[in-house]
Amino acid sequence: MDLREATPDDADGMSRVLREIIAATGRERPSDPDFVLRNYVRNPAGIRCSVAVEEDGAVLGFQSLIRATAGNRYGVPEGWGIIGTHISPSAHRRGVGTALFASSRAAAAGAGLRKIDAYIGAANEAALRYYEAVGFRTYRETADTVQKVFELG
Ligand SMILES: CC(C)(COP(=O)(O)OP(=O)(O)OC[C@H]1O[C@@H](n2cnc3c(N)ncnc32)[C@H](O)[C@@H]1OP(=O)(O)O)[C@@H](O)C(=O)NCCC(=O)NCCS
Repeated sequence: MDLREATPDDADGMSRVLREIIAATGRERPSDPDFVLRNYVRNPAGIRCSVAVEEDGAVLGFQSLIRATAGNRYGVPEGWGIIGTHISPSAHRRGVGTALFASSRAAAAGAGLRKIDAYIGAANEAALRYYEAVGFRTYRETADTVQKVFELG
């Protein structure tokens, strides 16, 4: 497995990962390559979007880190980081998410972030456990969502 910064050429592979997650979870969401480019690879607020790729070049998953801007839809304070993680169900529990977070955490420190938000569905047990395992802690909850924060030292 190789970890590197996402490029526009990864958009199709990243889109496929999103479609595989939708197929496995039934949680519908935007997934086409144009959305991937706009929202992740070329997000103007982007700090780092990392991809994990197999030796044959297939995208296993990705993690985006952006800077929270005023009025963001998650209600995250301006200037925090906002993180999102998307890994193919065929590659779960192999440490891909953990490796991606090492890259995002370094990028967050380099960008001078103090806190990173993860916005998670309350029923998404894997994501709740994953973020907890890499050091995030719950700071806000509704009936449907949990927000966890990672504090950089
Ligand atoms: C959540 C997600 C990112 C985890 O990625 P991953 O690469 O499987 O995570 P890792 O292999 O690095 O796991 C690290 C630790 O997280 C915890 N963890 C991860 N998935 C878990 C699960 N399904 N159940 C329980 N604990 C889990 C474990 O402590 C794990 O360590 P261990 O395997 O040594 O026990 C992945 O399941 C995913 O992409 N899910 C679909 C998309 C999604 O829901 N994204 C989050 C939206 S908020």
